[in-house]
Amino acid sequence: MFSRVVDMKRNIKTVFNKNNKRKITCLTSYSYNYTKIIDDLVDVILVGDSMGMVLYGLENTRTISDEMMIHHARAVKKAAKNSLVFFDLPYSSRFDENDIVKRVKYILRKTNCDGVKIEGNSELANVIKKLKKVNIPVMVHLGLQPQKFSSSKKFKIFGRGKRDFDKITKDALILENSGAIAILLEGIITKISKVITNLSNIPTIGIGASEFCDGQILVSEDMLGLFTEYHPKFVKKYSNLSRDIQIAVKKYVKEVNTKRFPNKKFRYD
Ligand code: KIV
Repeated sequence: MFSRVVDMKRNIKTVFNKNNKRKITCLTSYSYNYTKIIDDLVDVILVGDSMGMVLYGLENTRTISDEMMIHHARAVKKAAKNSLVFFDLPYSSRFDENDIVKRVKYILRKTNCDGVKIEGNSELANVIKKLKKVNIPVMVHLGLQPQKFSSSKKFKIFGRGKRDFDKITKDALILENSGAIAILLEGIITKISKVITNLSNIPTIGIGASEFCDGQILVSEDMLGLFTEYHPKFVKKYSNLSRDIQIAVKKYVKEVNTKRFPNKKFRYD
């Protein structure tokens, strides 16, 4: 029993090791209870700012504040005994290196997460260097960066043009050299994810970026069929929880109305 617990507890060095034979598995979570369910099963849990859309029903990911992220990341971290927990640095309309470093340190201090994911390109190089100096692991997010869009309806796939292709590849290598521990690639063509995965010495984590990445991530609500308003091509539905919940709730309503629930078994006498 003891050795099983030791085996399951992930750490940054062993999970984000490019030489690992097995893929890195990641999912999003925003809550304590759901984290408890998946904690033993995946390597990394991301408290994504996708919560803006799938949890709060907002139009984009930009409306998540640092305080909202702290609340959710705290709950997730509390439940995660074995997996690594990363938080998404929330959107800010201004780019200020010192401010980013300050915010990351603050959120990390408040949540005790294992690392941060930041959306951005080569302009993040100095930020990553500064965070590396204080041992804060950074996963960079390249390709489709949802924080750049005011609505998910405007999302597009990146890397089809040569300029785009060259820029993403160059940015990935710059950020790796600055000290990033992983590169999340979202919504890009297969050829780029292959090139970056082959060139880079740190793992790539893909979402809509092909099977050639070193790891994969999906938004839990999407892959469980819980969020049904938006269904990108890259999402495979492993469950249909919205249907299952409706079946359960209909049964409950029917039993209450027909007085089959509650009954003797569920009451205090
Ligand atoms: O916010 C999020 O959940 C993400 C994933 C889509 C990778 O960034």
